[in-house]
Amino acid sequence: MHILITGGAGFIGSHVVRHFLKSYPAYTITNLDALTYAGNLANLMDVDALPNYRFVKGDINDGDFLQRLFRESRFDGVIHLAAESHVDRSISNPTEFVVTNVLGTVNLLNAARACWQSDFEGKRFYHISTDEVYGSLGREGLFTEQTAYDPHSPYSASKASSDHFVRAYHDTYNLPVVISNCSNNYGSFQFPEKLIPLFINNIVHNKPLPVYGKGENIRDWLWVVDHAQAIDVIYHQGSNGETYNIGGHNEWSNIDLIRLLCRIMDTKLGRAAGESEKLVTYVTDRAGHDLRYAIDSSKLQRELGWVPSISFEKGLELTVDWYLTNAEWLQNVTSGEYQHYYKEMYGAR
Ligand code: NAD
Ligand code: TYD
Repeated sequence: MHILITGGAGFIGSHVVRHFLKSYPAYTITNLDALTYAGNLANLMDVDALPNYRFVKGDINDGDFLQRLFRESRFDGVIHLAAESHVDRSISNPTEFVVTNVLGTVNLLNAARACWQSDFEGKRFYHISTDEVYGSLGREGLFTEQTAYDPHSPYSASKASSDHFVRAYHDTYNLPVVISNCSNNYGSFQFPEKLIPLFINNIVHNKPLPVYGKGENIRDWLWVVDHAQAIDVIYHQGSNGETYNIGGHNEWSNIDLIRLLCRIMDTKLGRAAGESEKLVTYVTDRAGHDLRYAIDSSKLQRELGWVPSISFEKGLELTVDWYLTNAEWLQNVTSGEYQHYYKEMYGAR
């Protein structure tokens, strides 16, 4: 079994690569990643010497390169995570999201289709997507696999579009595809532009914690290791043409989550209770900010038996411990390009 994982140097991708290398030593795993600002080979240092691992630096926007790679490598399966993934960046630069998330995905579908011809026996194209394609919920209800797509940000619109292309290649060419839509992930190796690692880093350095709007928006949070486990189960046992929602049954308003994080940080840093929370600064809301995401993952639980393994409180504490222990990793990724980005995003405030 030879699996191509795209975006394997990113946050979730690195956990998926690690999970597959360790769980399936007989598989060959090729990690294809363009190493954008979000891709970091340091995320894979513990596994990159394994004999069943290969890294290829390359861009899913280069269709000819993908066709050559597929011809040479004869992959049995693809797990596609490469994407531009940050909503705030999509608001500043939407075109980049269309290029990578939509056209890049179509390039990959074309390469798989050309390589596999019509011999799809044992083949699988697994597209990793987000719950954000479903839009925003009110106070009640959950996203199911039947919820109509209603994306609001350029990021979620680009992911929705890529999901539609993946389904179209199944319906039109019988490509053996499967899709999953997951809620917000948290854990080690997440680039500190996303809420949890950004706030951990800011608390360590006594910098303001920029809470958008009133902090009332609600997200469902899943430990990234549990997401990687769900991807394993869906890759091996999911049915062709199906969609599976993945979620943590774990809804938090941003401000409640931030207060919990501040309490954990006070304890870990030996600060007086309430010290970190003083850094909370309410800032202008994100444009088009979705109020609430919440996932019904009962199909995945019922049909494939997957359930999250740990509580949010435990997972968040493990995550804080990881960032505090790996201060050098955090320092490396917050230097350079990211500093420039941070100034652009928050400098004027
Ligand atoms: P990330 O930004 O941390 O990583 C993305 C990776 O893709 C990086 O390694 C980057 O170098 C690579 N990449 C970007 N453009 C590329 C290109 N043109 N060619 C090759 N590689 C390229 O993202 P993430 O948070 O790990 O998300 C991974 C996937 O999971 C994305 O498709 C995202 O939409 C989806 N997802 C993320 C979350 C979340 O909470 N982070 C939740 C649900 C779904
Ligand atoms: P984020 O981690 O960017 O994930 P997503 O937008 O994909 O859900 O943001 C999570 C929530 O936190 C979202 O409601 C926006 C909010 N947020 C802030 O309030 N301040 C911040 O600095 C960031 C990055 C996010």
